[in-house]
Amino acid sequence: HGVYQALLANGVGRTVEEREGEKEKIHRIVLAVSSDYFRGMFTCGMRESHQSCVALPFLSTSELEVLIGYSYSGILLLSWDSVFEITCMALQLQFQSALSICLNFMKKEMQASSCLDVASFAEAYGMSELLEEANDFVLRNFMEVSSTSKFQDLQAEKLLNFLRCDGLCVPSELAVFRAVISWIEADPEERLAHAGLLMTGVRFPLMTFREFREVRAINLRMECFGNKEVELYGSALKEFGFSLPKSQDHCRIRRPKDAVVLVGGDQLNPDVGQRIPSREVWFANSLRSGTGLVKDIEWRRLTEIPDKPKFRHGVAVMDGRLYVIGGCFFYAKDDIMKSAYSYDPVSDCWKRLADMQEFRSNLSVVVHELHLYAIGGDKDINTNVDSVEMYNPDTDTWSFVRPLDLALSGHAAAVTNGEIFISGGFNCKYECLVSTCLYHPERGTIYLADMTHDRAQHCMEALQSHLYVAGGVCNLRKFYTDQLVCEVYDTVADCWTTFASLPMPHVGAASIVLEEKIYVLGGYCQDDYSESALVHRFDPIMQRWENMGKLPGAVTDIRACLMHLPQHLRHFSSSTL
Ligand SMILES: *[C@@H]1O[C@H](CO)[C@@H](O)[C@H](O)[C@H]1NC(C)=O
Repeated sequence: HGVYQALLANGVGRTVEEREGEKEKIHRIVLAVSSDYFRGMFTCGMRESHQSCVALPFLSTSELEVLIGYSYSGILLLSWDSVFEITCMALQLQFQSALSICLNFMKKEMQASSCLDVASFAEAYGMSELLEEANDFVLRNFMEVSSTSKFQDLQAEKLLNFLRCDGLCVPSELAVFRAVISWIEADPEERLAHAGLLMTGVRFPLMTFREFREVRAINLRMECFGNKEVELYGSALKEFGFSLPKSQDHCRIRRPKDAVVLVGGDQLNPDVGQRIPSREVWFANSLRSGTGLVKDIEWRRLTEIPDKPKFRHGVAVMDGRLYVIGGCFFYAKDDIMKSAYSYDPVSDCWKRLADMQEFRSNLSVVVHELHLYAIGGDKDINTNVDSVEMYNPDTDTWSFVRPLDLALSGHAAAVTNGEIFISGGFNCKYECLVSTCLYHPERGTIYLADMTHDRAQHCMEALQSHLYVAGGVCNLRKFYTDQLVCEVYDTVADCWTTFASLPMPHVGAASIVLEEKIYVLGGYCQDDYSESALVHRFDPIMQRWENMGKLPGAVTDIRACLMHLPQHLRHFSSSTL
């Protein structure tokens, strides 16, 4: 680290660019504006405020250059190789806006390979919010993180803290056990001594007998390392065989920060063979993993729609509020609605908004640049529309914007990178479409690559510049059948590729992205009209569908969204990091 010397100029605008050995000319005012440290130095009558040359010993030249460059250009180029050093210097010299860009980078770009470094950094500098985000990332992506080299360097105590967390996301306790074994095997001489204690973090009672057989096999292998086998196997056996209480704290109970909120829907009452549309709004407080693969969702009632029930409606979250729009309350011609409501979870209050200009069911609703858009839908039985309305929350008004190219209902819409994408749906003849388009409220429609399969009444969710479609019906063979094929669209390459098919039909299901996984909730089966009360989740890393549990109430034509709910509605256990 050489001594950085700055030649200071008084004017505005960087007139002298050339470097003279280790010296560079920089404007006092530029430094004073972007750094509290330099503002103090130049404005509080310190000696440096009239010196033409200031020496800054003990500072690394390359990081300082990056920060000075940022002060002039407003551009800060960061990578995982440089971000920690630049953040340290931004902290030291109080470059506030550069600092917040660095912290934002760490949060937004966090990866399995960097999250443990971020956690150590946040801990060292006492940044509790960043530390919480990094720890949560580790819990959420434990499988991926446990295969990185950084994981192998984790301290035993830190590892145990993660293992003990209810919120640890793992496909099974065997995966936790394997992670501990791989950590021990990275340095068996040193680490076998910690095995007994670490094994107390593995929830053996949640294993199946087959999984436990692998524990025994691994234990036999571990015996090669010498005399510690009794402890490892002993604690495991004790946990598995003799302490079988199904107490709740033996479950992994993950409480995602955001809650999945379910709105309305319809349900068949099998006793009377009657349909019962719903006004209920539920939220998922926690996800539980029991023995083997048994998973369950803890649902709680949030509120009720202050009007008729709704299904085939649209929902969206904007500015912390839930919007519930259109839909129908029963199956007759006159049961389609144009009403709209908003719900504020903080005050627990509903508000009736202006009606849409058009009746719409089987519509889709998206948020784009702080406005809601109600796109297409059926205004009558077997009559769909091409019109799109925009809701302005400041004026409580709906106004028509540029229509679609064709009448559409039962389509799906999603927003990613600020653009509205629409896929599939029924055209005016109620044929299922393969089309995908980009829709803009002023510029209209641009067609993109077709899906490989037609579909309507399906789900579409955006995740990391990709759009995932799942569920719905198709009718290429004339009659409607369940569409089980799932596809993903790459918005950069403009192409669709199929991925693992759904394990069961989900027509008219709800969907949501939670913690980087895609959830498909409820719906029905087109072939026999039975209800699909299950929740399936697709993990793009593991590339597979998992059964997450059941829905609490109505199942068909429900809608879901993700909301941040006030603390008092959520229940947090003490077993968090
Ligand atoms: C909405 O979609 C469903 C399912 O495809 C369909 O049966 C219904 O007729 C559509 N229109 C209305 C007005 O509900």
